[in-house]
Amino acid sequence: MYEQVSHSLLNQILDEIKPEIRERDLRHFYTRLGANFYVIHQLFHYLYGKREDFKKQMIHLVEVMATRYIQRHISLKQLDSERERDHNWFLSQEWVGMALYADGFADDLQGVEKKLPYLQELGINMLHVMPVMVCPEGASDGGYAVSDFRNVDPRVGNLDAINILSSSARKRGMLLILDMVLNHTSDEHEWVQRARAGEKKYQDYFYIFDNRDVPDMFEETMPEIFPETSPGNFTWDETMQKWVMTVFNHYQWDLNYSNPAVFIEMLDNNLFWANQGADVLRLDAVAFLWKKIGTTCQNEREAHLILQLMKDCCQVTAPGVLFIAEAIVAPVEITKYFGEDAVIAKECEIAYNATYMALLWDAVATKNTQLLRQGIQSLPTKLDRATWLNYLRCHDDIGLGFDDADIVRAGYQPAAHRQFLVDYYTGRYNDSPARGQPFGVNHKTGDARISGSLASLVGLESAIESNDDIAIERSVKVILLMHSMICSFGGIPLLYYGDEIGTLNDRSFLNDENKAGDNRWLQRPKIDWERAERRHQHGTPEQRIFNGLKKMIAARKGIPAFADFNNRELIDVENPHLFVFWRTDPFVPLGSVLVVCNFDDSPQYMELSALGNRGMFEYGNLKDIYSGESPRLFKDQLVVPPFQFYWLTDERPDVGF
Ligand code: GLC
Repeated sequence: MYEQVSHSLLNQILDEIKPEIRERDLRHFYTRLGANFYVIHQLFHYLYGKREDFKKQMIHLVEVMATRYIQRHISLKQLDSERERDHNWFLSQEWVGMALYADGFADDLQGVEKKLPYLQELGINMLHVMPVMVCPEGASDGGYAVSDFRNVDPRVGNLDAINILSSSARKRGMLLILDMVLNHTSDEHEWVQRARAGEKKYQDYFYIFDNRDVPDMFEETMPEIFPETSPGNFTWDETMQKWVMTVFNHYQWDLNYSNPAVFIEMLDNNLFWANQGADVLRLDAVAFLWKKIGTTCQNEREAHLILQLMKDCCQVTAPGVLFIAEAIVAPVEITKYFGEDAVIAKECEIAYNATYMALLWDAVATKNTQLLRQGIQSLPTKLDRATWLNYLRCHDDIGLGFDDADIVRAGYQPAAHRQFLVDYYTGRYNDSPARGQPFGVNHKTGDARISGSLASLVGLESAIESNDDIAIERSVKVILLMHSMICSFGGIPLLYYGDEIGTLNDRSFLNDENKAGDNRWLQRPKIDWERAERRHQHGTPEQRIFNGLKKMIAARKGIPAFADFNNRELIDVENPHLFVFWRTDPFVPLGSVLVVCNFDDSPQYMELSALGNRGMFEYGNLKDIYSGESPRLFKDQLVVPPFQFYWLTDERPDVGF
């Protein structure tokens, strides 16, 4: 498309750009800039066009993109070109991720590098190292309060250690995911210090108010994120004698994206980490990027425009780098973070599937898949060239963010059902083996979330304590069942460190005053490597979980129908304990796989006639790809043992479903 205004502006920018940039041969850069400039200009103009310094800011934006392009290592530029050619590369079923804290997993970044063979043993090829940037000595929200976006926290290493880790990972065919905390800085960041010292320029980087007038207006509609430990959304700053917007903890100052300087700084930070070798950037808390009085200050249209602009700019400088949206919001809102259009309004290629995660926990507690099915059916379809990050646990709490209407359709009353789930996972419900704790309890709204490690939530902790072999076996089966769901659904499974060996709640945080008030630390363990060794000892829970997952990951990688091309169809089987879906291989008509899972603790059966005319197969030839065995059948009824999952195909040569 030829657009006069942006074309002439681009020409002017190229004339006025710094001579050291102008004199370089930047062919690839200019080709991409030319292709994306119209959209970049439109978005930047929409957000900042009313400002007098608009053109100056626009030139600065292009200079930042060009400078980072010049600094980008030739090997990363080659990777960019390869990924541009094979642009669907990340939709493949071959990717399997793990998220970990460097210090919890292996003391520091150097230690993580040494432990890469352990991750490879399991089959992990996408490594998310949670925040590594400089953060306060004391409370730092697990590193999500960043004091310096250009340096690594000395407690885990330095920039060299990141470079060594990223090149070692690359040699092993592993991708590196790093966090970019876009929404806020810690109150120790230089920008905060300069704002406190009275520099207007830096006060404009944040939302700062002389009195409570504006904050009070905001508070009318803004929810509280950490109601127990950090109520309200503003903090009084003694030094400035002013109020500051702090949506998360009082020491996390929200950045003001209505200031273009903030956008450009944060883009520059993103590109800096892309140049350190990050293949993927996890963009933290993206729903919060735009604040507007009278709203919840989440999911605002401008937050999406900022992400589109960020994506377009990043595509010019480092097109091989992907974005993950961490937007733990309502199901209909999450898909919007992929963008509205793959070409002109693209945002993040990957998004956390918080809906699926919460629905799986519902199915485990209720042993019933009604809500799971309902919730998945209500999910809006996503763009092509976009994929989910499917996970069970992470360093955060489990929020019960399903849609109320879906809860009602599944036959429950929303408030009572949510209360049941909190009670169930915190062990207050009779018969519940779970050992979680309530998190973020808000007495004003009745909301609550859940903390706890995967193993403790499914009952492994209580089973070990009571020496109950049957209960241990049951927990191991549930752990494997849940992982089978994230490995087969469509999207990238993201395991969480420690879960591969059934790590229980870690209560050591209670001895640290900077952590004691935040029970999310229950699920941020220090790995016990002696315990991890038991993965080699036949019959231990560690061995059964680790080996089960290893086998599952290897099987997943060999099933092209598990790649994510929006190739999934739910099948209604009239048995509320089963969750059944059909994955087709878009490139091989006979490569379909039928996924069947039983969430109940008693055997269930499924009428194969429910499959309708999907595939011409002889029931007797069904084979489970995971175990290599044939499932039990009685006439056309498939028998599914308690907590069993099947990945079924037709074993006759050359005949799939
Ligand atoms: C994200 C992080 C969470 C953190 C919050 C604020 O949701 O996952 O741990 O508390 O952002 O940065």
